[in-house]
Amino acid sequence: MNSKVRIALTKGRIESKAVELLDRIGYDTSELKNKGRRLILSIPNEDIEVVLAKAADVITYVEHGVCDIGVVGKDTIMEHGGKFFEVLDLGFGRCKFALAGKKGGSFYDGYGVKTVATKYPAVTRAFFESKGMDVDIVKIEGSVELAPLVGLSDGIVDIVETGTTLKENGLDVFEDVAPISARLIVNTVSMKLKQERVSEIVRLIKENCDDKNN
Ligand code: PRP
Repeated sequence: MNSKVRIALTKGRIESKAVELLDRIGYDTSELKNKGRRLILSIPNEDIEVVLAKAADVITYVEHGVCDIGVVGKDTIMEHGGKFFEVLDLGFGRCKFALAGKKGGSFYDGYGVKTVATKYPAVTRAFFESKGMDVDIVKIEGSVELAPLVGLSDGIVDIVETGTTLKENGLDVFEDVAPISARLIVNTVSMKLKQERVSEIVRLIKENCDDKNN
């Protein structure tokens, strides 16, 4: 096992917030801020390496134990699942999963089986199963908002942050599905074999993250 502690950060939207968090702890994040095309960065004077990856890959790396700690959105955790400890709500990257559709429409009216387009079929399936409702789920890879507009689906289950994308496309939230924020995850074996160092880093992150409710 690598003697360093390796942290996987999700590239993109929550990346800068995660780097800010490492800054607040007092880590030197200069490599992270000037990373160019490099994917593995070190934190000078610390036994820590940082890896940048797509959200689902953060989970895969942590599950496989090649990264000890990960920062990833609850959206990906809910869709992907997996075997790891989810130890902290980091308080940033807040948004929600919502069921949405054409403004003024009513998703639950009528008797036919509804069609729902989404990038998150597992989340969508679980949501409607919890209601005991049968729906047809169509997997879409991007800009799900298009699906109800062109008549592919009666609704969508997607991430809503500011609500601007829905609004600008004449869509509206019908129902909230689940709140989302960035989470800290830890590999189950690292939690035991690197217990002291991993706990210390988790403690520092907890003390410096936005969500003081943890
Ligand atoms: C998400 C989501 C919406 C948008 C919502 O997409 O799928 O399209 O953000 O944000 P808003 O409520 O602030 O308008 P994202 O930008 O992450 O891109 P993606 O389609 O590549 O997932």
